[in-house]
Amino acid sequence: MEVVILDSYEQISKKAAKEVSNLIRNKPNCVLGLATGSTPLGLYQELIRMHKEEGLDFSKISTFNLDEYYGIPPAHPQSYYAFMHENFFNHINVQPERIYLPSGTATDVNAFCQWYEEEIKRLGGIDLQILGIGRDGHIAFNEPGSALGSRTRIKTLTRETVEDNARFFGSVEDVPRYAITMGVGTIQEAKQIILIASGENKAEIIAKAIEGPVTAQVTGSVLQLHAQTVVYLDEAAASKLERYDYYKWVFENKPKL
Ligand code: GLP
Repeated sequence: MEVVILDSYEQISKKAAKEVSNLIRNKPNCVLGLATGSTPLGLYQELIRMHKEEGLDFSKISTFNLDEYYGIPPAHPQSYYAFMHENFFNHINVQPERIYLPSGTATDVNAFCQWYEEEIKRLGGIDLQILGIGRDGHIAFNEPGSALGSRTRIKTLTRETVEDNARFFGSVEDVPRYAITMGVGTIQEAKQIILIASGENKAEIIAKAIEGPVTAQVTGSVLQLHAQTVVYLDEAAASKLERYDYYKWVFENKPKL
């Protein structure tokens, strides 16, 4: 696992966007795994800028989102479908038929989840997965206790996650209690993973996920087992890492390799 610590949120967003754009230029029909939350917004904005100013072409890519609230329709303003369109898809030239998001209204949830997994495989697997991390260590909506081999399925959100996300819904009561999410095992199969975290409120969980034991209690910790993961942190999110100096040292010495 490579840990890259930069001064600001803007810098990590730009660095991560550079990685994504390099992949798109090298493999125009690549498959991206996408995340919601506030964290990847800077990355999406930078990719939109690259599309508008540098002609970065998204016309052949496919995208799979990690998760969606269960029980709300795509048109709901807080659905992840709406979030992704508003903050990313509407501003680039991705083809609508190549955009995949879990359905918040599927009636046969198991059949839907199986289909989602099969579509990922049919398109050759996820080349690059973008991740944020929840305060309880979840990646996607894989709450503590999720099996490390889990696949796409429905999950009950923790009280903490419901409270964290109430800021978008207006009140805790309005936050859905369930989500359809890619599993930890699904995410682990991505060929390359980028985890982004910013701000002091992520410092503790980042230290646990990166330096603590690999455990289903912090599903982000499973990334320690993934061979191609880069973690981009701003100084605040990196502030509780024990091996902070070493990560900086590695980064400084990298150009000499
Ligand atoms: C939600 C999403 C996660 C995301 C997390 C953190 O729970 N399902 O994929 O990583 O929020 O959100 P934020 O980036 O806003 O802190």
